[in-house]
Amino acid sequence: MPEPHSPSLGDATRGRILFGGDYNPEQWPEETWHDDVRLMRDAGVNSVTLGVFSWARLEPQPGVREFGWLDRLMDLMHGNGIGVVLATPTSSPPPWMGRLHPETLPRDEDGRTEWWGSRQHFSHSSAVYRRYAAAITEDLAVRYSGHPALRMWHINNEYCTYDWGDEAEDAFRGWLQAKYGTLDALNEAWGTAFWSQGYGDWYEVLPPRRAHYMKNPAQVLDFKRFTSDALLECYLAERDIVARHSPHIPVTTNFMAVWQGLDAWQWAAQEDVVSIDVYPDPRDPFGAQYGALVHDMTRSQAHGGPWMVMEQAAGPVNWRGVNHPKPAGLNRLWSLQAVARGADAVCYFQWRQSRQGSEKFHSGMVGHAGEHGRTFQEAKRLGAELALLGDKVADTRVEAPEIAVLLDWNAWWASAQDGRLSSEADCPEIVRAWHRALWEAHTVADFAHPEHDLSAYKLVVVPHLYLMTDAAIDNLLAYVHQGGTLVAGFQTGIADEDDRVREGGMDRRLRELFGIRTLHEWWPLDAGETVDAEGFHGTLWSEEIEAADDVDAVTPYKGGELDGLPAVLRKGRAWYVSTLPEPHALRTLLADIAAGAGVRPTLAGLPAGVEAVRRGGLLFLLHHGRDRVTVPVPGRHRDLLTGAEVIDTVELGRYGVAVLEVAA
Ligand code: GLA
Repeated sequence: MPEPHSPSLGDATRGRILFGGDYNPEQWPEETWHDDVRLMRDAGVNSVTLGVFSWARLEPQPGVREFGWLDRLMDLMHGNGIGVVLATPTSSPPPWMGRLHPETLPRDEDGRTEWWGSRQHFSHSSAVYRRYAAAITEDLAVRYSGHPALRMWHINNEYCTYDWGDEAEDAFRGWLQAKYGTLDALNEAWGTAFWSQGYGDWYEVLPPRRAHYMKNPAQVLDFKRFTSDALLECYLAERDIVARHSPHIPVTTNFMAVWQGLDAWQWAAQEDVVSIDVYPDPRDPFGAQYGALVHDMTRSQAHGGPWMVMEQAAGPVNWRGVNHPKPAGLNRLWSLQAVARGADAVCYFQWRQSRQGSEKFHSGMVGHAGEHGRTFQEAKRLGAELALLGDKVADTRVEAPEIAVLLDWNAWWASAQDGRLSSEADCPEIVRAWHRALWEAHTVADFAHPEHDLSAYKLVVVPHLYLMTDAAIDNLLAYVHQGGTLVAGFQTGIADEDDRVREGGMDRRLRELFGIRTLHEWWPLDAGETVDAEGFHGTLWSEEIEAADDVDAVTPYKGGELDGLPAVLRKGRAWYVSTLPEPHALRTLLADIAAGAGVRPTLAGLPAGVEAVRRGGLLFLLHHGRDRVTVPVPGRHRDLLTGAEVIDTVELGRYGVAVLEVAA
């Protein structure tokens, strides 16, 4: 019997790096399609994503189908050797749906309806919406499953909606009944003895709608869990339809980068291909590090295998306050960075820049300036380079990182509640600060869920797991017990999975692990305020901790209320950092701890601003600065991008990239 085949990105890439993007030809007259194809071929585009927002075009009236235009496009793409990632159009229902079935429209926490006229105006819990979504998905799958252009299914787009409406209320209640079984269990988990919130009937239990004052945090936490699950049900319903018709075609849905709404660990487990939309700000001095973080997260969700940049911008976006273009070379640099960190697809929103609608000032691969514009010319160069790399890179893995950064959406959700001590302490920003320190120390890290098997890592970093399950705590203890090195930031393991503060203010076993006898008080800092510690300044937070007798080393706070108390504690291989050291101090601290754990930088002697990543036996060097630098690379190499021989050093100019293969 042949092994059952699970589809993967390899089925779509077929040994190449996918290059292309969202293509919205319904916005253009058909003559333009032929010009599009000419330019796609010119630029080496081998993949387009069709149909993301095509519902009104495909189903102009309830139950009516207009597939002719899409048939012509699928054939046109196939005839030109361009594969299609075909989207289900279910993120933007046609206006008739809201008019005929107003219950399909979501409501916000104030009970206000989100009307059509934009996008994503669907209630995840609406039975009517789900029925129409399933029907159009079924018909697309029947029609195109066997089409030779089809490479991948793309379900919906950036699932991200919340709904406090009536059907969502029923669904939330059902979700809670399944979770808790009895009202007593719910009352206990939500701590409803506080403020007279005890529920005597399931019909009293609501989504956390507008209230006079702070809402019950456990209720809000469960509502976030429920929302992620309700959206996942929508995804799974469509995924199962397309998978039934084309079991050999991989399925994905595109995540927003570092997005709070979906528990990406759970979601990624349900995808054949993990794909991401990533939009670093070209003006952000640490935009490259943000990109690296997103790439590392996405690769980790793909279990280290190849993943997909489904969307990025060739130039400016149009949804920031001020939207800056990408300087020459930056699009190439950040695209190759994604490839270095494991991407097998470099795709854009969108192919041709719109002339109408909300995104007419959002860049496209073909901008308003057309084929002679810098944006297209740069895209064309990139397409040629990706084609050069394809057969050496596609389907290979990033050299296994020795560091894992732990992240859990439950901890993020719980730490972002009303009623906390500091609204300055933002989980993703804290995670970013720790990741940045690792990135600047020239090490590559994975992300992991706190209950994952961590035994392959030499160092585990916990930036901000405010909430931890017992299983996660057991996992960390076992990891250290088996010889792993652990470093944790402030407020680790404060709450259990119901957001109940653990006895003593922090889990007892974790206190023992780190050598904390008593955690007396938390001392959050104001924005911009610092606290002195021996050898560095802390930011954001500090803690009044009494060290246990068996602690091995302490770096104390200096001056102020916490004078002499531990800022950093070490007991054996477990480190606890009760503040957020300023960037260079965190980098030094982490680099030292990593070195102690046997982790080495990817390459010795790298200049600041040069990133090095090894993938598939190749060494990617990415220069994020503008001045020329010399990078030591002992031995003889060949640069796959230029064909040049490299002996011992390589020169990189502004935003320069080299992809080095050891010379035979
Ligand atoms: C998201 C969406 C796209 C587009 C871009 C703009 O990623 O999926 O449809 O709106 O944002 O940056």
